[in-house]
Amino acid sequence: MKVKDKDFKVFIHEADILKQVARVASEINRDYEGETPVFLAVLNGSFIFAADLLREITLPCEISFVKLASYEGVNSTGKIHEMIGLNVDITNRPVIIVEDIVDTGLTMAHMLETLKKHNPKSVDICTLLLKPDKLKVDLDIRYRCLEIPNDFILGYGLDYDQLGRNTRDIYVIE
Ligand code: IMP
Repeated sequence: MKVKDKDFKVFIHEADILKQVARVASEINRDYEGETPVFLAVLNGSFIFAADLLREITLPCEISFVKLASYEGVNSTGKIHEMIGLNVDITNRPVIIVEDIVDTGLTMAHMLETLKKHNPKSVDICTLLLKPDKLKVDLDIRYRCLEIPNDFILGYGLDYDQLGRNTRDIYVIE
């Protein structure tokens, strides 16, 4: 598949993604029994993951969406953008961040710091994808669906220059 100037090939099939999403959801259902967590999904990349994850959650729960982006093209710019759009009171509530991919981890580290100022009861990170070899910061990632190598990927919500979010499978750059 060609997206702009780059070629991509299927890397993770939808069925395999959904299996891991269901596994992580059942871990959350078990760990948060008796609680009513607030899921905070990070737009835009996590919108499909969040929809699939939430439909596997059997707990009473809320979901809200925030924005925070640091990516342009295939290389991290290293820029950290402020979190915007937090319109739910998370004071004293258990929060689960729903993220598409943790790369260097700088975005998540910054978001954790921002959220802690609102005095939540707890904050856990739930990511669809993790590139373990690229992590630059010490980050406790409690829930992860899939670990992948350092290659650039797209699909299932993730983009290359805003394109390619609308595929069922995850693709990797050729
Ligand atoms: P980090 O701050 O370096 O961890 O970057 C995290 C953000 O970069 C994610 O939320 C994605 O939006 C973006 N990102 C990182 N790697 C990829 C990739 O392989 N494909 C598409 N977006 C990516």
